[in-house]
Amino acid sequence: MASVLLYFLELQMLVRAEPQVPCYFIFGDSLVDNGNNNALTTLAKVNFPPYGIDFVNGPTGRFSNGRTTADILGELLGFDNFILPFATARGQDIQRGVNYASGAAGIRAETGQQVGDRISLDTQLLNHGITISRLLTLQRNLAFTKDYLSKCIYTVGMGYNDYLNNYYSPQYYPTSRLFTPDQYAVVLIQQYSKQLKILYNYGARKVAVFGIWQLGCTPAGLARYGTNGSACVKMINDAVQLFNNRLKPLVDYFNNNLYGAKFTYINITSITAGDPSAAGITFVNTPCCNISATTGLCIENQAPCSNRNKYVFWDTFHPTEIINLFVSGRAYRALSPSDAYPIDIRTLAQL
Ligand SMILES: *[C@@H]1O[C@H](CO)[C@@H](O)[C@H](O)[C@H]1NC(C)=O
Ligand SMILES: *[C@@H]1O[C@H](CO)[C@@H](O)[C@H](O)[C@H]1NC(C)=O
Ligand SMILES: *[C@@H]1O[C@H](CO)[C@@H](O)[C@H](O)[C@H]1NC(C)=O
Repeated sequence: MASVLLYFLELQMLVRAEPQVPCYFIFGDSLVDNGNNNALTTLAKVNFPPYGIDFVNGPTGRFSNGRTTADILGELLGFDNFILPFATARGQDIQRGVNYASGAAGIRAETGQQVGDRISLDTQLLNHGITISRLLTLQRNLAFTKDYLSKCIYTVGMGYNDYLNNYYSPQYYPTSRLFTPDQYAVVLIQQYSKQLKILYNYGARKVAVFGIWQLGCTPAGLARYGTNGSACVKMINDAVQLFNNRLKPLVDYFNNNLYGAKFTYINITSITAGDPSAAGITFVNTPCCNISATTGLCIENQAPCSNRNKYVFWDTFHPTEIINLFVSGRAYRALSPSDAYPIDIRTLAQL
C-alpha cells in the first residue's frame, strides 16, 4: 500500500504542469524587448545596472527593474522559463516560442533611427520567417508545424515609438508636417494591418494586439511638451487615442474576413484607467532611477529608488514591474469588460 502511494507521489512529481498553449511568440518594442538590442549599435539598449535590479538574472536588456508584461504573460500561460530573445534562441527552445521585440522599433521602418539600430516590425516578421524554417527543420513535418503554429499565442504591441520617436520628434522626422494626427493614425493602421496579415499568413491564429499606452503621461512626454497644468500631455494622448480607436475595427475585420483568425484587442486605456494611488503607487510622473539627459534612460550603475513598488515609471519611458504585473494580469484575465475585446488572453488560450 505504502509503495503504491509512493509510486503515485513520484509520478505526480515527474509530470510537470504543461503550459496552456505549446508556444508564445512576442512582437514589440522596448516594453517587451528582452535582449534583442544588446548587440546592436544603438542608444536604446540597457544591459547594465540598475536595469534588472529586481530580475532573477539581473540586467538582461529588459527596459525595467524586473519582468516585462511578456515575461509575466508567459508565466500566466504556464511556461516554466522565459521565452528567449530571437538574438540568442537556438535549438529545441524555439519550439516554446521566440521574442522578437526591439527597443525603439516601430510600425514604420524609419521610426527610432535617431537612436541607432533597431529591429522594425517588418524585420521582426522576417525573423519570424527564419524561426519557422528552423521549426520545419526540427519538426520535419509541414502539416504538424502548421497546426502547431495555429495553437500558439502571439502578442503584438507596436506604435509607442511611431509617436514618441517619430511623430513627436519633429527635429528628426517630417511626419507631423506631412500628416494631421488623424491622417497619421490612418497610415499607421494601414501599414500595421498589412503586417498583421503577414503574421496570419505565417500561420498565427491566436493574436492579442495591444493598444498604445498613454504616452502623454510618461515623464518623457511631459518633459517634451508643457501640460498646461494637467497631469498629462493631452495632445499626445489624443493622438494615440486616434490610433487605438482603430484597433477594435481592425480586430473585427480580421476575425470576420480571415479564416480561423482569433484576434483580440487589449485595451491599455481601460486597464490603466483609475488612480494608482489606491494601490499605494504614489509617484505617477517621476522616474525611479537617475536619468541620462541624452537618452531618457537610467544612468548606468547609479542606485535607483528603493521603494520601486510605489512608482509607475522606472525611467522616463518605461513602467516598473509592479505596473507590468497589473497590466498583464488584466490582459490575461479581464477585470472590466472593456479591458479586452472580444476576449482576454486566458480565453484566447483555451480556444
Ligand atoms: C496648451 O494650451 C494651448 C491653448 O489652449 C494649446 O494651444 C496648446 O496646444 C496646449 N498644449 C498642449 C501641450 O496640450
Ligand atoms: C477602451 O477603454 C476605454 C476606457 O475604459 C473605453 O472608453 C473604450 O470604449 C474601450 N475601447 C474598446 C474598443 O473597448
Ligand atoms: C541617484 O538617485 C538616488 C535615489 O533617488 C539619489 O539618492 C542620488 O542622489 C542620485 N544620484 C545622482 C548622482 O544624482
